[in-house]
Amino acid sequence: MRIDIISCVPNLLDSPFSHSILQRANDKSLSEVHVHDLRKYAVNKHGHIDDYAYGHGAGMVIMCEPIFNCIEDLKKEREYQEVIYMTPDGEVFNQQIANHLSITCENIIILCGHYKGIDQRVRDELVTREISIGDYVLSGGELAAAVVADAIIRLLPGVLGDETSALTDSFQDGLLAPPVYTRPKEWKGKEVPSILLSGHESKIDEWRLEESMERTKERRPDLWDKYLDAHPEIKKKKKK
Ligand code: ADE
Repeated sequence: MRIDIISCVPNLLDSPFSHSILQRANDKSLSEVHVHDLRKYAVNKHGHIDDYAYGHGAGMVIMCEPIFNCIEDLKKEREYQEVIYMTPDGEVFNQQIANHLSITCENIIILCGHYKGIDQRVRDELVTREISIGDYVLSGGELAAAVVADAIIRLLPGVLGDETSALTDSFQDGLLAPPVYTRPKEWKGKEVPSILLSGHESKIDEWRLEESMERTKERRPDLWDKYLDAHPEIKKKKKK
């Protein structure tokens, strides 16, 4: 998969893709992330990419032309399945969207906003999907773009060492992940649950599922309700 990120502060993205799992994905040629400086596409003689918003009081807005030209240049080279604009008024990102994008896309453009955002006409004309990473406002879309790219890339086959580990992530089955433990068996008088030391695989799986359900019920009643609706047999059992 190839991800092209368009930003007017490209340095903000220097680090996230140069370490750990994302770096490994790049080294194994499973993903490529390219960051493009929108300022290189400035069209006016002052090198500006933004201008005052029409109407009063709204602040600066990124202009159509630099974005259009940058995206056109990229599209000359390859076909893109999605042009995603990162914005707090987009669809709230979740694991299902990450799964979908990792399966359906080979090439993705992610456009980062800044200031008051980008001219609405570019959104209407070029953007295929608008994504928010949560109900809060960041200074720009770069950190949000890194979050989305990370969530997608780690799902690509071969990126995670253990192929099953993405499947046991929180949210993959609609539940939060269960607690995990490592050595030592006892720490400050607290013991690892004995079932995990028993070697009894099916009992351990049962325990994990039960813990996942308890955690989800307690911490995320919204997810728990959805889970019960999707699993009527558990809903029945839990009511008893
Ligand atoms: N840009 C600014 N805030 C954002 C958010 N919450 N999600 C995505 N992009 C953003």
